[in-house]
Amino acid sequence: MILTKDAFGEDFIWGVSTAAYQIEGAHNSHGKGPSIWDVFVEKKNKIFQNHTGDIACDFYNHYIHDLELMHSLNILNYRFSISWSRILPDGTGKVNQLGIDFYNRLIDLSLELEITPWITLYHWDLPHALEKKGGWRNRDIKEWFGDYVTICVKHFGNRVKNWIVLNEPTVFTAAGYFFGIHAPGKKGLGNFLSAVHHASLAQAHGARIIKSIQNDSVVGTTFSCSHIEPFTNRDKDIVAAKKADALFNRLFIEPLLGLGYPTDDVKILNRIEKYMQQNDENELKFNMDFIGIQNYTREIIRHATFVPFLRAKIVSAEKRKVEMTAMKWEVYPESIYHILKKFNAYSNIPPLIITENGAAFPDRLENNQVDDPKRVQYLQDILKQVFRAKQEGVNVNGYFVWTFLDNFEWAEGYHPRFGLVYVDFQNQQRIVKSSGHWYADFLK
Ligand code: NOJ
Repeated sequence: MILTKDAFGEDFIWGVSTAAYQIEGAHNSHGKGPSIWDVFVEKKNKIFQNHTGDIACDFYNHYIHDLELMHSLNILNYRFSISWSRILPDGTGKVNQLGIDFYNRLIDLSLELEITPWITLYHWDLPHALEKKGGWRNRDIKEWFGDYVTICVKHFGNRVKNWIVLNEPTVFTAAGYFFGIHAPGKKGLGNFLSAVHHASLAQAHGARIIKSIQNDSVVGTTFSCSHIEPFTNRDKDIVAAKKADALFNRLFIEPLLGLGYPTDDVKILNRIEKYMQQNDENELKFNMDFIGIQNYTREIIRHATFVPFLRAKIVSAEKRKVEMTAMKWEVYPESIYHILKKFNAYSNIPPLIITENGAAFPDRLENNQVDDPKRVQYLQDILKQVFRAKQEGVNVNGYFVWTFLDNFEWAEGYHPRFGLVYVDFQNQQRIVKSSGHWYADFLK
């Protein structure tokens, strides 16, 4: 069966997603202050071949061409993020008007081209000035973030209705504050748990602020989610898988829904209490208008005695010798079906929107063309699984491809290419891949 866009219904939202640090470049132009990523990429050997996002896709200077290209591919919804330190170079205080001007131009042109903007307020590029004060480990971040959100909604809310508060809080707290492999490169349980709690608080606080300023706003937040399976049916592996599921999939959604942190399966999360104040549990709750699901793969988990606290570890796709993307993630489109079913099963869950999904493959430019049949297949297989979930009653209302342009993939640098559009980073040329043409046809 060939699936068409119409099968998903007229109201289903179709789009593409990007993030500021991954595409904008212009890292110190027009008054922008440094973010934790500007600082992190300068450290030796943190990023693949010491790549940086200094220039990236130079979207800051190419946005007109890029939005026109998006329009020509029939894409009607564009999710992008705002760089906090472009708006507030010191994180708080004085607003940088040139930063506001850039996003005004971007929003205005999107609307002119009939592309609806979806703004992510935080996609990992914390102002460095705030990290110096502890960043996400400092409870004051709730207020710093609230003030930044207020400025964004006041400046852009007359034209922008759709807001995403945080991008993948589990990833930025774990990679940035536990493993130290993303900015700001901090490690350890204390850093992680405090960052988790403050991100949770900021998430609900930010959402409440948006609603209080703009009551017809559509507010959501996004979560990284992976379907989890135990390596074997042994009890130990099943327990390990449950713990991984609690950490990967439940850590942020459950407090938001008023269910508290998933301490039943991960006892160590009880230590978050240290950072809790009276009434925090209530404050963590918020009725979002939608939940953003971001899924790329599944994870197979086994018991591991030597892993402290968790006693669980991932059995990599490489070890399992299964088909993989350039990120070494298993190609497993059914994962998205299971995740949609899982999230939909929470009793008070709002509608779901897939705010990111896609795949990196080793694309090659040949005769000025990029043929990427694997990505086309991947996207088609994913959509079948989304449709399957929808037919079974899951309230899923949208799908955004990650991503529009090949870009800076964090610690992996420019090596993995996720785009529907190929970017030649030598000359900033854009070449629409076969997958981009396929998506345009699908959206027609
Ligand atoms: C999740 C993140 O939000 C995005 O920034 C990243 O590039 C993609 N997944 C792919 O890893």
